Amino acid sequence: MDKATLTYKDRTVDLPIIEGAEGEKALDITCLRQSTDLITLDVGFQNTGSCTSAITYIDGDKGILRYRGIPIEELAEKASFSEVAYLLIYGNLPSREQQNIFSQRLTQNSMMHEEMLRFFDGFPPTAHPMAMLVTMVNALSVYYTDYYTQDFQAETFDIMAASLLSRIRTIAAYSYKHSIGEPHVYPKRDLKYASNFLYMMFDSPINPYVPDPDIERALSVLLILHADHEQNCSTSTVRLVGSSMVNLYASICAGICALWGPLHGGANQKVIEMLEEIRKDNMTIKQCIESAKDKNSKFRLFGFGHRIYKNYDPRSLILKNFCQTIFKKFNYQDTLINIAMELEEAALKDDFFIERKLYPNVDFYSGILYRMIGIPTNMFTVMFAIGRLPGMIAQWKEMHDSVPLKIGRPRQIYTGSHLRHYIPVDER
Ligand code: CMC
Repeated sequence: MDKATLTYKDRTVDLPIIEGAEGEKALDITCLRQSTDLITLDVGFQNTGSCTSAITYIDGDKGILRYRGIPIEELAEKASFSEVAYLLIYGNLPSREQQNIFSQRLTQNSMMHEEMLRFFDGFPPTAHPMAMLVTMVNALSVYYTDYYTQDFQAETFDIMAASLLSRIRTIAAYSYKHSIGEPHVYPKRDLKYASNFLYMMFDSPINPYVPDPDIERALSVLLILHADHEQNCSTSTVRLVGSSMVNLYASICAGICALWGPLHGGANQKVIEMLEEIRKDNMTIKQCIESAKDKNSKFRLFGFGHRIYKNYDPRSLILKNFCQTIFKKFNYQDTLINIAMELEEAALKDDFFIERKLYPNVDFYSGILYRMIGIPTNMFTVMFAIGRLPGMIAQWKEMHDSVPLKIGRPRQIYTGSHLRHYIPVDER
């Protein structure tokens, strides 16, 4: 086994190099503190792996993304979202029989406990759909309490996973109906995952939902592209929170909160707001690029840049092509896509973006496709959460199954005051 040698004061420590399945290497520092009293400092975890994982492989320099070894391009073209969810959670594509059982479980767990509807009465119609989503996901642990069983069985996990995957879609659609003041629409047992969501979103007594296979496919592709992305901010939150042995609902709820931020899953909403602002203010592409580079400007090029990808994010390429094809097919016009494409072209020629290897990420084109499907802008991050759920569940399961399960507990370097003493308020 390869090793690296660290010399500190009079001590020398051999640190083993471990190698992943695709040849990526890591310095294993498990024994560092024991041997040297040192810890490592890596703010933002730019160089730090928190686990080994067999779920998702990314090569950010080459623009490669694979779920359980299968290229994202193949899955986006051929798979259904529920197949991808199964693949991520259980490790392999389901057989016909496994798929039937999985679909049945999703159907059986698609309705919310009727009492949970009362939660919605407490939300103002202006409530952000992400705020409602996290509240309701956590509330699932009030109504579905199997996890309290001492002896956590595989079957309990199967039901909880299906409950989350299926109910998150119902919760999201109900939040939308609540915000527009329309009655909730119950899920239908004979509809597939994406179709059922669109049905619950857009069916009403006055305007019945008319299914369109192209639109349903567009939604499935979006969900598949978001389904996992290894140790990002939200998934590693799920692992960290879950490492305390808290239940799956609570861990996922924490992960969804982490996803909400504009530097992460919230970027898709920000992209559309940015493109709308450019259109409204008649900004030229040159002005946008200059503002994005100016550190004193508030303008940021949302949907650009990525911690891992230093090349095209493969998901953004798939989405750009998909948007162009489906827009043509429907003869759908949206000037935002033209602005986005011009912005992309200009940024990719600009030295600032070239030097920093900043490319469009998945969020750059996803909002444009959500708009076409009819999803309101403030629900884009909810859509990201629905898509990312299989990955979060898979990461929780992998962490939970690992032996020994170690609670996540980073260290720090303290930079505060030295010892000092309490002074009563009148003497301060
Ligand atoms: N526009 C302008 N400059 C940028 C951008 C951007 N979108 N992204 C990075 N930079 C610059 C940044 O200012 C820095 O410049 P300098 O070296 O001169 O200080 C350099 O590029 C490195 O950026 P960083 O912020 O240190 O990189 P990071 O790895 O810490 O952050 C990021 C990654 C995604 C948070 C960042 O690129 C960003 O804020 N992008 C916009 C938000 C966005 O689109 N987020 C969605 C990411 S994809 C979905 C997901 O998985 O979450």
